[in-house]
Amino acid sequence: MKITIIGAGNVGATSAMRLLEAGLGDIVLLDIAQGLAKGKAEDLMDAASLIGHGKNIIGTSDYSDTQGSDIVVITAGFARKPGMTREELLNKNTSVIRNVVKGFKEFNNDPIVIVVTNPLDIMTFLVYKESMIDSKRVFGMAGCLDSSRMNLMVERVFNKPLRDIDSLVLGTHGETMAPILSHSKVDGENLIDVANRDDIAQVIDKTKLRGAEIVSYLGTGSAFYAPSAGVFRMVKAIVEDTQEILPCSCFLSGEYGFKDIYLGVPAQIGADGVEDIIELPLNSAEKKLLAAAADSTCKQISALIA
Ligand code: NAI
Repeated sequence: MKITIIGAGNVGATSAMRLLEAGLGDIVLLDIAQGLAKGKAEDLMDAASLIGHGKNIIGTSDYSDTQGSDIVVITAGFARKPGMTREELLNKNTSVIRNVVKGFKEFNNDPIVIVVTNPLDIMTFLVYKESMIDSKRVFGMAGCLDSSRMNLMVERVFNKPLRDIDSLVLGTHGETMAPILSHSKVDGENLIDVANRDDIAQVIDKTKLRGAEIVSYLGTGSAFYAPSAGVFRMVKAIVEDTQEILPCSCFLSGEYGFKDIYLGVPAQIGADGVEDIIELPLNSAEKKLLAAAADSTCKQISALIA
């Protein structure tokens, strides 16, 4: 497996470390900043004897080094600053993504592409449009991160062990994320059946604000340990063809009633990318949340291609 990670910043470099140390493939780490990717890659290689991963990583600014990649992970672009919404990143990151797609497409026809750059659902759509790669092979990482964050919030609010919690967040990675309570479980029971409204509202608020909360602690930059864990989980599902169901930003062709947009939905991930999109039965409140998310994505996509 050859895995290229574009963007050697916080998310890119941490993802590289996770993938390398798990031995999931040989890694190419690419960044526009000369020397940055090489420095980080060489530093990671210096740990080879200590960790014993047996795989190789190179750092580069030259797209020809990415030739023949099985998987391309895009983490290049600007991160949110305190007070900035993900949507405000749209303009800045559009030109980064165009540049990145042009670069890797010259040397790779048909890789599986995982997009991380924000605003996630819009940037994933842009990668799909610009790359002309099959939509099943282009998808975005966010839902598994948001669901993992919600798991932690449930653990803290309800004082239950994490292993007994399984939350599901769909919709956009942003202000219109859609926590799906009817498919979120504690001790095998639906959250909606075992928790009171106030506690649930607290969990939802904390989950929605979690990204901004981390940004406010860090002072500069945004979260990267948990996001890189999301990348790791998705790449592992592809490399090991696990067929596991993970919430990802996927291209919709009528699923959940929406078309021609990317939105967070449960997806079966395997060696060919998105092998299936799982249509869960949703209650009317959840359908409204998903519709609001789709509407917000639609508007931004229209602005992007106008
Ligand atoms: P960072 O600032 O640490 O790293 C970004 C890297 O991209 C920098 O090293 C920069 O030199 C590089 N870059 C910029 N333009 C480039 C280009 N044209 N070609 C190649 N490299 C280029 O940022 P961080 O924290 O790694 O975040 C990266 C992106 O991921 C941001 O847009 C951030 O908002 C997003 N993100 C998304 C998450 C999600 O759940 N989808 C979670 C966390 C971050």
